[in-house]
Amino acid sequence: MTEFANPSDFDWNNLNFSYHPLPYRFRAYYDNGTWHDMGLETDPYLPIHEGSTALHYGQQVFEGMKAYRRADGGINLFRPDQNAARMNRSNARLLMPEVPTEMFLEAAKAVVQANADFVPPYGTGATLYLRPFIIGVGPNVGVQPAASYIFTIFATPVGPYYKGGLTPTAYVTSDYDRAAHGGTGQAKVGGNYAASLMPGDQAHQAGYSDVVYLDPRLHENIEELGSANFFGITKDGQFLTPKSPSILPSITKYSLMAVAEELGLTARETTISIHDLDQFSEAGAMGTAAVISPVGSITHGDDKHVFFSETEVGPITQQLYNRLLAIQFGDEKGPENWIVDV
Ligand code: PLP
Ligand code: COI
Repeated sequence: MTEFANPSDFDWNNLNFSYHPLPYRFRAYYDNGTWHDMGLETDPYLPIHEGSTALHYGQQVFEGMKAYRRADGGINLFRPDQNAARMNRSNARLLMPEVPTEMFLEAAKAVVQANADFVPPYGTGATLYLRPFIIGVGPNVGVQPAASYIFTIFATPVGPYYKGGLTPTAYVTSDYDRAAHGGTGQAKVGGNYAASLMPGDQAHQAGYSDVVYLDPRLHENIEELGSANFFGITKDGQFLTPKSPSILPSITKYSLMAVAEELGLTARETTISIHDLDQFSEAGAMGTAAVISPVGSITHGDDKHVFFSETEVGPITQQLYNRLLAIQFGDEKGPENWIVDV
């Protein structure tokens, strides 16, 4: 029997990014071409067959999204339609069935509503992180897609992913790659993260927050970080972010590109050489878990490049952060359809 968390267990102002067993999660099962038996469940365990493709061949896809408590006590989701769309692009890459957008959105809302007491209070900065995922299950041994699947969403209250929140941290490049050119970098699949565990651990052991991956063909251009996309603000007011076929199309990135344009910057996806960091006055990591985390420095071989400061967030990064969070927490109106009331 799982012992579930209690809202009174949490120190909302000091949460880190970790799993807590909340009472409800969503489940749906796919067999013979249809989704069935969908609804809320209490059991956090998934009994699956030993031949499941998710266990052997990594046939699994996941998403990450958040629920935000508004000042009026209501709850927002941020662009959940984009998570549904990306999950289906990832599913297509791994020959997994489509999750109907309506089912995805209703499931996300149901999980938030059922666990509403665990959506952290407004003003703490903490949020309820949702982890939708889909796995191939059933008896298989050959390398082929499963016939059956489970789609599920669990939730856990979280604080900052990169320690320090808006305090800059240090990053380092690696000789390893997380995804190949033409591989699964654009899909949110567990295999990319499995490949990142060892380089990530080496970076952590050496005192860095995360790895800056370089492009897998030339090892010359910035790809992304282990758990977030990268952006740099140029000295002449451009918001630049890597363009690459082997990185995750971050929803936070596309949102921040729009916010940057609103703030009068020019936003562009482009090639960013690891040898051309002097063009930037500020840099940051961006993602659902990472939110915006200033990149204080990048160490590449013997070179350590410091951006704005190793201790203070830069002014433009701070503006981007303020505007994005104001939209997400419902303090300010953002572009149409970004916010979904739960
Ligand atoms: N890149 C990687 C490798 C990630 O794990 C994430 C997190 O989801 C992102 C980028 C950012 O994507 P998003 O902004 O959609 O959360
Ligand atoms: C997210 O930001 O949702 C992620 O998936 C990052 C990480 C926790 C894997």
